[in-house]
Amino acid sequence: METVRLGRTDMRVSRVGMGAWQFSGDAWGAISYDQAKAVVARAVEVGINFFDTAAVYGRGRSEEYLGRAIKELGLRDRVYIATKIHGEWLRRIDILTSVENQRRRLGVDAIDLYQIHWPACWHNTPICETMKTLEELVNKGLVRYIGVSNFPVQLLDYARTCLSRTDIVTSQNRYNLVEREADKELLPYLRREGIVLIAWSPLAKGVLTGKYTPENLPAFEDVRRNDPLFTPHNLKLVWPLVEEIRRLAAAYGKTPAQVALNWLVRDPWIYPIPGAKTPEQAVENAGAAGWMLSDDDWRRLDRLGWEISQRITYVTW
Ligand SMILES: NC(=O)c1ccc[n+]([C@@H]2O[C@H](COP(=O)([O-])OP(=O)(O)OC[C@H]3O[C@@H](n4cnc5c(N)ncnc54)[C@H](OP(=O)(O)O)[C@@H]3O)[C@@H](O)[C@H]2O)c1
Repeated sequence: METVRLGRTDMRVSRVGMGAWQFSGDAWGAISYDQAKAVVARAVEVGINFFDTAAVYGRGRSEEYLGRAIKELGLRDRVYIATKIHGEWLRRIDILTSVENQRRRLGVDAIDLYQIHWPACWHNTPICETMKTLEELVNKGLVRYIGVSNFPVQLLDYARTCLSRTDIVTSQNRYNLVEREADKELLPYLRREGIVLIAWSPLAKGVLTGKYTPENLPAFEDVRRNDPLFTPHNLKLVWPLVEEIRRLAAAYGKTPAQVALNWLVRDPWIYPIPGAKTPEQAVENAGAAGWMLSDDDWRRLDRLGWEISQRITYVTW
């Protein structure tokens, strides 16, 4: 797969990365270590070299599985590992404690990209305490780059002023054809500032592939049962887009997932990290790069997605 430089970093990453929330064993159903290892092995075989995880995913299990797989497969010098710190562990003492736990679980000396999972909601931790501690981790060589996730643009902008020798290189946010809030002010800011948007839920958690309908929902214990995108109202709204994605997939000889991801990879400032539960999904998602929708097809898809995104509601009661 083609590689690109991840924004202002020196990391040359595969054009499509991979999310490892699916290794948590709770939110997305059970998964064994051997299954997770098989996903990582196949993903790397087809060129994926960037993996995203987080401390909260399965309370460390995702980090443990990912780190162990990379170690056992002898891949450490071929892949980049991004992880996140819990949004309520942003005091200095908590960061210093967590980063050690995370390095141990991942089995690495330095974490390639360390992201704040979400801004502190309950603890009122001053943002500069957090940012200065992250900078300290970079200075100590425990972390190579720092990023944020789910930050409003104003907080992100302010957080950067707390740093002296480093900068925020990535912003991880929900972004896919039908969840487009980042279009309003975040993406213009990131493009202007040279910060990469790492797009989480780039497949809208599978909705864009057309596999889920009000009659065919994910398993009862699956995290998606409580996701507002999976209400009958929203699934029906998205359906014309699914049909257009399927039409394009047939025309280009691709799959719906590949079309939905290809819409994202056209923009050099957007970096998708689709989650995969099986080796087959990892292979399919890697096939989203290396080709391009025509300008007309891209624009039509973009417009249709935007129009539907404006009618989706997250209010469920
Ligand atoms: N920063 C944050 O707050 C945050 C939040 C969410 C996620 N993330 C990160 O972003 C990553 C991706 O987001 P996500 O997992 O929420 O959503 P996603 O990538 O949009 O959807 C992943 C799900 O879609 C299905 N899928 C994947 N590839 C497919 C394919 N080729 N064909 C058909 N179905 C396919 C799989 O579910 P089924 O097989 O069950 O359909 C998979 O579990 C996560 O793993 C995590 O690393 C970050």
